[in-house]
Amino acid sequence: MKRLFIFIFILGLAGVFFFYRETSAFFSFPPLPPPEQYGNILINRTSEKNNMKPVTFSHWSHRVHYTCRVCHLELEFNMQLNTTEITEEANKSGKFCGACHDDRTAFGHGKENCDKCHNGDISYGREKFVKLKELPAARFGNRIDWVAAVRTGLIKPKHFISAQPAEMSFDKSLELAAENYLIPPAVFPHSSHTQWLDCSNCHPDIFNIKKKGTIRFSMGLCLRGEFCGLCHLKTAFPLNDCIRCHPDMSEDVR
Ligand code: HEC
Ligand code: HEC
Ligand code: HEC
Ligand code: HEC
Ligand code: HEC
Ligand code: HEC
Repeated sequence: MKRLFIFIFILGLAGVFFFYRETSAFFSFPPLPPPEQYGNILINRTSEKNNMKPVTFSHWSHRVHYTCRVCHLELEFNMQLNTTEITEEANKSGKFCGACHDDRTAFGHGKENCDKCHNGDISYGREKFVKLKELPAARFGNRIDWVAAVRTGLIKPKHFISAQPAEMSFDKSLELAAENYLIPPAVFPHSSHTQWLDCSNCHPDIFNIKKKGTIRFSMGLCLRGEFCGLCHLKTAFPLNDCIRCHPDMSEDVR
């Protein structure tokens, strides 16, 4: 009898193990670029139409100095490539890139600098990435644990450039139980997010808390760039890092 129980138990464990393997094989993850290219983009809404090369922009080189909030709230860049109406005129008048690229905070918009942005090279500035090797490590993405980098004070990105936001702290960590109960729940720590983002970056457009229902977020939707996947495919550590969101998942998944 006892042996039978042990047998069934082992069969159960094997089942759970294969289920994990299956699910992680089932989800199709977009290929990851090398760490020094993760979060880099080429902006090309109007450039090539105007005979200029696409504009290079690297998230890692900027997030060392500024939080997401600065660009995606104060400066009104959208979190979707090629959707913000950035023009050279607006840049020159101190908006968008020009809020910093004004020859004071960073190189400006003079003729000598056109190629620093309009070069069509998605890994422009790659040689500077080695400077970040002292930062705490993560397994995927830039392979930098950006949350720990801020907590340990190794980087101090500015949270605003013009008006200081009202102090608003909300540290609640939420447990998002997966629809499929074989999977340990996902966690959502507010504190690691408010370090970088404003409440209004997420509420109510991405997460409408009035229409509650975490059931809506599934891995499938996240992998299509919705909910958590809006940031956790392109800029924040990617969805491949299961245990960072499902802390009780076994180590050897993927
Ligand atoms: C210095 C400015 C700046 C900072 C800081 C910044 N971003 Fe961005 N981000 C941009 C720009 C510019 C774009 C492109 C917008 C466009 O083309 O319309 C962008 C695009 C994005 C996209 C879409 C990428 C794609 O490939 O579709 C995401 C997601 C994003 N940012 C998230 C973040 C997150 C999360 C942070 C903080 C960790 C952050 N950004 C910090 C400027 C910034
Ligand atoms: C700090 C980065 C940066 C620098 C420096 C820069 N640009 Fe741009 N420029 C941009 C961005 C971002 C866009 C929007 C690109 C897009 O959506 O395709 C843009 C758009 C343009 C466009 C498209 C049409 C328009 O008027 O908006 C032209 C033309 C242009 N830039 C010319 C130049 C020239 C010429 C220089 C040098 C004198 C220059 N840029 C320097 C970032 C830069
Ligand atoms: C909030 C301020 C800020 C904004 C907005 C900003 N930048 Fe920058 N950018 C900087 C600073 C500061 C540096 C210098 C960073 C360094 O040397 O580490 C920089 C550096 C760069 C570099 C050189 C990177 C390298 O490694 O050599 C490029 C290219 C660049 N920015 C493009 C852009 C483009 C394109 C935009 C707009 C789409 C933009 N930046 C918006 C502050 C900003
Ligand atoms: C990165 C995105 C993100 C940011 C930034 C963010 N939240 Fe949330 N918030 C969430 C998610 C995800 C949930 C869970 C939503 C659900 O269950 O439908 C949530 C839930 C909540 C809830 C409901 C809590 C509960 O017990 O159910 C409140 C209240 C809330 N957030 C307030 C805030 C405030 C205040 C800020 C700014 C200080 C903030 N949030 C910043 C993503 C975010
Ligand atoms: C608007 C962008 C955005 C959205 C949406 C978002 N995150 Fe994040 N998240 C971040 C950024 C930025 C970090 C900092 C770490 C990094 O960039 O790699 C982060 C960090 C985390 C961490 C690491 C916490 C730590 O202390 O190490 C977890 C876990 C996490 N996110 C889970 C989630 C989950 C689950 C969702 C969806 C319910 C979600 N996030 C949605 C931007 C976002
Ligand atoms: C950025 C955070 C994050 C990462 C990384 C992540 N997940 Fe999830 N996962 C979630 C959220 C949020 C849910 C939905 C929870 C709910 O239903 O409320 C979820 C749900 C699931 C489910 C339940 C079924 C479904 O599709 O919703 C499975 C299975 C799952 N994750 C497996 C994985 C595996 C395997 C990995 C790594 C390859 C992974 N997850 C990485 C956040 C994440």
